[in-house]
Amino acid sequence: MSLTLQNLRALEILDSRGRPTLAVEAWLSDGTRASAQVPSGASTGTHEAHERRDGSPRFDGKGVRDVARDVAAIFLPALQNLPAEDQRALDARLIEIDGTPNKSRYGANATLGISCAVARAVSVARREPLFRTLSTGTPVLPVPMINILSGGLHAGGNLEFQDFLIVPHGFSTMADALEAAVRIHSTAGDILRRSGYTLTGVADEGGWGPLLPSNEEALFLLTIAIGEAGYLPGEQVSIALDVAATHFYKDGKYHLESEGRELTSSQMVDLLARWCASFPVISIEDGLAEDDWDGWAELTERLQAIQLVGDDLFTTNVTRLREGFKRKTANAVLVKMNQIGTLTETLDVCALAREIGYSAVVSARSGETEDSFLADLAVASGAGQIKIGSITRSERLAKYNRLLELEAWEELTFPGYTGPTRASQLMTDEETVDD
Ligand code: PGA
Ligand code: ZN
Repeated sequence: MSLTLQNLRALEILDSRGRPTLAVEAWLSDGTRASAQVPSGASTGTHEAHERRDGSPRFDGKGVRDVARDVAAIFLPALQNLPAEDQRALDARLIEIDGTPNKSRYGANATLGISCAVARAVSVARREPLFRTLSTGTPVLPVPMINILSGGLHAGGNLEFQDFLIVPHGFSTMADALEAAVRIHSTAGDILRRSGYTLTGVADEGGWGPLLPSNEEALFLLTIAIGEAGYLPGEQVSIALDVAATHFYKDGKYHLESEGRELTSSQMVDLLARWCASFPVISIEDGLAEDDWDGWAELTERLQAIQLVGDDLFTTNVTRLREGFKRKTANAVLVKMNQIGTLTETLDVCALAREIGYSAVVSARSGETEDSFLADLAVASGAGQIKIGSITRSERLAKYNRLLELEAWEELTFPGYTGPTRASQLMTDEETVDD
């Protein structure tokens, strides 16, 4: 018998930064109940769907009690008795109820919470793992991009660049890739202490947030840490950057205040190109600002062998991703559920990326919860890459540990990195030498 949605309720809870966010519970016709929790970003893009907040004095305006109230008062009456297993139809109804292009009426936090809670309830009712309920193609374990050093809006240090991450692509299992990440994270901490840099706990996503003399120093330290931890930089473990350049772009210039200089788009591209030549960097996210389309086109033209990921640029939005493709901009998309506000729209972005030959990286937010939904979504989407943060802080580990469960208990395959790797770039030269 087909399942229908019977009840919805929502609650204001706290995220990993201690800020309010939403939990939604869905009840189905067979009595199943399940809930989902909504993440929240700090370095948000202008083109993201609207995250609705109360604006009352509670939590400095960041409360979500009105949002929670409307889940029951507005959405429930319009959704009650609808089939729960047709996610596309359910999400279309959510979009229709809100009725605005960016969900600014009732909030993408409300629509996403409902979308995810219903999907999870269906998986529980069917007694199947969530990724199977969400899956449209072949599920695969994603290669993780793991934050080791943090700057920008996520850390109290001085760096403008937001994330210095590792990509452990030279391993045959998720478990081995995570072991390497743990070693490199702790080795990086040792190196920072030994070098006399002040360490004040970890940043929002669990990476170290040290005071460093320059952004380049972070790359240098990270490369050293990979080697000192016992791995081959560029062959087993490479580097990914999330520049989050939107957040230090003003009046046509990129302001690297920690280094006392301002760069044009072309100078930023020069800087990134130089780093790719000197360090084992294989992926750069938001290397330029969200509306700097001309700069992005130049970046894409010049760094063709590097994975260039649009986060603030695309905001998990098929219209912006299509625009990017038309303008020969970037070659990968970051996928964040709450940038768009429903599961269907999120999976549609993954499908479009596949169609136009872009890679996709499913991503958490800097404000997260203990919900592991993202791990199942990444597997179901077939994206092949995931970015959750570091391997400290339990809101991150909820997802990593879920991936470990899926690897061990669901016997999913770990097919490896889907973007260009330095090892594969170098292969052509080695083959020539061997011949
Ligand atoms: P955010 O950071 O969740 O604060 O936006 C993550 C990212 O920029 O990728
Ligand atoms: Zn980003």
